[in-house]
Amino acid sequence: MIHQLDSEEKIYKVTYRLKSIQSISRKLQRKNKEVTLKNALHYLNDIAGIRIICNLYDDVYKITNKLQTISDLEVIKIKDYIQSPKESGYRSVHMIVCVYVNGKKIPVEIQLRTIAMNYWAELDHQLCYKKEFYTNDRIYKELQRYAKEIAKKEQ
Ligand code: GTP
Ligand code: MG
Repeated sequence: MIHQLDSEEKIYKVTYRLKSIQSISRKLQRKNKEVTLKNALHYLNDIAGIRIICNLYDDVYKITNKLQTISDLEVIKIKDYIQSPKESGYRSVHMIVCVYVNGKKIPVEIQLRTIAMNYWAELDHQLCYKKEFYTNDRIYKELQRYAKEIAKKEQ
């Protein structure tokens, strides 16, 4: 997919992951849905995930726009958590797109962010995000403050 773009120099790194069977079942159960392949494809948008880490702030939007011109990607939804960051301070653009694989429509979540946003998100992932049993308020607040500092430098 990236080969269809003529702007590789704007991209620092692309990573991808497939959600594990365990997380797929957990998420379906959370949504009170029976754990089946059909339900997974219907209710979950992030079984396949691609993360595009761009060098600079503007590059995130250049690549987001470019992706929307690729004809075999059907764009379902775009959420701009850069313009509207999450309460945690999380910033990224999320695009849900669909691709056809062997005639099956497969949703893919593409996350686009800068190196700085990615650094923050990785740190948050290690220290805070989705920690179900232990949330340290001091670390949460410090990460929120840190996210704001990074955001100030990037606009
Ligand atoms: P999920 O059920 O968690 O997938 O939420 P959702 O379907 O509403 O999707 P959302 O747009 O919130 O994006 C979820 C994904 O974005 C997560 O799997 C993370 O990769 C990332 N994300 C969202 N919020 C945060 C955050 O506060 N911190 C970090 N580190 N990542 C986040
Ligand atoms: Mg998710």
